[in-house]
Amino acid sequence: MAEVVIVRDQEEAGRLAAAAIARRLAVTENPVLGVATGSTPESTYRALAAAGQRLTGVTAFALDEYVGLPAGHPESYRAVLERELVAPLGMDPDMLRTPDASPEGLHDTGERYEAAIREAGGVDVQILGIGTDGHIGFNEPGSSLASRTRIKTLTQQTREDNARFFDSVDDVPIHCVTQGLGTIRDARHLVLLAFGEGKAEAVAAAVEGPVSSGVPGSLIQLHPSVTVLVDEAAGSRLAHADYYRLAYANKPSWQAL
Ligand code: F6R
Repeated sequence: MAEVVIVRDQEEAGRLAAAAIARRLAVTENPVLGVATGSTPESTYRALAAAGQRLTGVTAFALDEYVGLPAGHPESYRAVLERELVAPLGMDPDMLRTPDASPEGLHDTGERYEAAIREAGGVDVQILGIGTDGHIGFNEPGSSLASRTRIKTLTQQTREDNARFFDSVDDVPIHCVTQGLGTIRDARHLVLLAFGEGKAEAVAAAVEGPVSSGVPGSLIQLHPSVTVLVDEAAGSRLAHADYYRLAYANKPSWQAL
């Protein structure tokens, strides 16, 4: 099962995630990081920068990209990651890979992205957020657990959740290109973070519910190496919270996060 750690706040989660990432990057030749966007990973990127971590020599693959935004749009995930990851962590911008969501590139964008991940040697650590509807990447409920990178339609719920980054919900694109659940499962280690009461139901369903395409985040139960970092609010519906606390309080020093 996943290691579930219930932390005080986003900053503590960010520090733990950053430390786990730094440890893995340090022992990996040509490391490959899988990166999420949205609010959730921000404290991790901040903590990496605060720890003086540089991502020189690291290749990063984004989970997803909106379709239909003009190139360079400030809310395109490429632009977000250039601001929040590339600049503060000294990454070579060419080492940040995002799915090609341009009109000319869409027809084979998934195949090309999958090939690029394969050629880079696969993702060593994948950072994940989770949507209020249980999505990871932009794999909305019903996505095949074996899916690969492809074009998806966002749910109205996801568009409403993401409207805060745009002037109105109508400006949130309807389509995206996202790594599939099968693609995410191929990463060597997953770090899923979630904060706030709004995520509590999705977290409980993903961590403790049945594995189901109805809750795409439940894919984590099929993965042998997963860390889940949640604040009290996001962990408030976990049936086994006491056990997770006990396990973490008694974590042996040889067992890295
Ligand atoms: C973003 C992504 C999504 C988000 C999820 C949560 O690249 O893949 O799965 O992680 O929508 O979004 P926030 O973090 O904004 O609550």
